[in-house]
Amino acid sequence: MPDDPALAATDARKAAFSRRSVLAGVAAVPLVAAVPVGSPTLQEAAGRAGMLFGAAMRANVIASDAALRTAVARECGVITPELELKWAWIEPQQGRFVFRDADRIAAFASTTGKTMHGHALLWHQSIPPWVAQVLADRPDWTIMRRFMAAVMPRYAATVRTWDVVNEPMEMGHRMDGLRPSPFLQAFGPDYIHRALDEARQAAPRATLFINEYGLSHDLPWQRDKRYLLLKLLEGLKRAGAPVDGVGIQAHLELVDQSSFRERVLADFLDELGNLGLQVRISELDVKEADLTATVPVRDRRVADAVGAYLDVALDNRAVGSVTCWGLTDRYSWLDEGRNVGNRGLPLDRDFVPKPVYDAIRRAFERRLVND
Ligand code: G3I
Repeated sequence: MPDDPALAATDARKAAFSRRSVLAGVAAVPLVAAVPVGSPTLQEAAGRAGMLFGAAMRANVIASDAALRTAVARECGVITPELELKWAWIEPQQGRFVFRDADRIAAFASTTGKTMHGHALLWHQSIPPWVAQVLADRPDWTIMRRFMAAVMPRYAATVRTWDVVNEPMEMGHRMDGLRPSPFLQAFGPDYIHRALDEARQAAPRATLFINEYGLSHDLPWQRDKRYLLLKLLEGLKRAGAPVDGVGIQAHLELVDQSSFRERVLADFLDELGNLGLQVRISELDVKEADLTATVPVRDRRVADAVGAYLDVALDNRAVGSVTCWGLTDRYSWLDEGRNVGNRGLPLDRDFVPKPVYDAIRRAFERRLVND
């Protein structure tokens, strides 16, 4: 709980509010109109194949949009907080923990019978300024320990899987491919093993992941990254580090589609499976390359890219879940700057399912048939 009792009271009120508004929203808004009656939702299709389907969400959007709540309640089995569990959000000042927004998502998840995926404990892009200062001036592992010990047990009932280290690799700096993040600079390459140990201690029953992007295509830098990530994972396993799985972000970009090779992704997934690791497709979405084509053409391209990707990914039994980075184009991190109007998520801005929705559902159904 927060150290500050006033904050704790606010948290409790917010959680109660969000439970009420969740229930009100689910009751008041009609189900997604364009899904044919009787056809399974994405989570139903995933569940039949022994898998999970989920989406990333922000607390403020859950609180303000009843239609979104209805769609998530219907389609998802697991929710990933898009921002609210990151260190910069949780501990903006040393020792002052702000759980309000993560608590609201956890309340929504438990009210609607979902689990939550814990994203992401250590990420170079979400370090509060005070942590950056400590890491640079006088590296002190206890700040890492206190953060994990504060956040992980709090969500033990809702969060089964955690991204312990997000995006630890970056090509072009070191022979081992590790990103020269403030964590690496402070503690050396061993910080990943230490963080996993710390996470295991704080959440003994959770499944612990390393989450990474740029792993799926036949591009030189991604080839290197796959190889060096496998080396890292082999080393961690050999040294007894508690790493249970790998999250493959899968932010697909249509401009790269010509470098997608089924064999490359399939072989990489085999290697991960051979190491005894679980795999989550953790942040699936599609950045379009050409927003000027007609909507049906654009939607077909997005659906084809996702269909081709998931057909390969779901062929591998190590892959247990698929999470999209958002559920509706109404709320997508991609819908910014030059990409305004991007249509890379399962539902459109009015929550109508698009061809990519069908492609995801078909991929789950295909896995069931192949089982
Ligand atoms: O909420 C404030 C708003 O009040 C303010 O007006 C606005 C001005 O910039 O910023 C808003 O906060 C932004 C927040 O997204 C909500 O939109 C932050 O600046 C922005 O940094 C934050 O970006 C998030 C980013 O991670 C950094 O945390 C994206 O939404 C989120 O989609 C993105 O997610 C990452 C994964 O964690 C890791 N993998 C890549 C993925 C996409 O970048």
